[in-house]
Amino acid sequence: MVTAYDAPSARIADRAGVDLILVGDSVAMVVLGYDDTLQVTVADMAHHAAAVARARPEPMIIADLPWLSYHTGIDDAVTNAAALVRAGAQGVKLEGGRKRAAVVAAIADVEIPVIGHLGLTPQSVHIMGGFKVQARQLDAARALVDDAKALADAGCTAIVLEGVPDQVARLVTDAVPVPTIGIGAGPWCDGQVLVFHDVVGLEGRVAPKFVRRYADLGADAIKAVSEFAEDVRSRKFPSDAESYHLTDDVARALRDDLG
Ligand code: KIV
Repeated sequence: MVTAYDAPSARIADRAGVDLILVGDSVAMVVLGYDDTLQVTVADMAHHAAAVARARPEPMIIADLPWLSYHTGIDDAVTNAAALVRAGAQGVKLEGGRKRAAVVAAIADVEIPVIGHLGLTPQSVHIMGGFKVQARQLDAARALVDDAKALADAGCTAIVLEGVPDQVARLVTDAVPVPTIGIGAGPWCDGQVLVFHDVVGLEGRVAPKFVRRYADLGADAIKAVSEFAEDVRSRKFPSDAESYHLTDDVARALRDDLG
């Protein structure tokens, strides 16, 4: 699974052959420049899900339900999940464990696939006191396993495990009948997810240790744009071949008009 937030990144994910595209609320930080994911709304997520869907990618499109779109009641949650589906998503993801089980069941009950998200859940950044690895202590690890079982029982299609020790992710993966998808959760999950901009090296910020960059498109882009600027300043761009031309007779008539 890889994130995508627009049609070009969706086309790339599609052509690369991933299984799932996540229109993550990480769009807030990666694309929109916010410091956390709390700033995006259902309308924002629908806007980006629609852009991804317009690329008609083969992988299933999952869109994140943003903060406060599923915390205010089951009806709100179902309505907001439906809004993302109508925008082009084929499933939704939401954060939290047992206390979200009823919401998961209600969304699944209207035939929308729901993916859970446990561990470092970015929408809880203030409660967690920052973006910190979770479930390091025995009680917290046990609670996380119980949360995963509750989500699976409630009808989750899969569970994302973010920022947890690899042994905890392994326990969860063994304990639940649905696939786990890890990010900063070690190698024993059924699948893995990374943010598109991290994979291709477009994200300039210091990356957490679980990120592996497979390209340095940011550096390539800076080089390309600086060469363009230099060519413009030195009048090497555009060339004759990169310009449109009048036919000789129209050019001559115009010159005659102007004397
Ligand atoms: O929003 C997102 O990109 C995510 C992934 C990090 C799992 O939730």
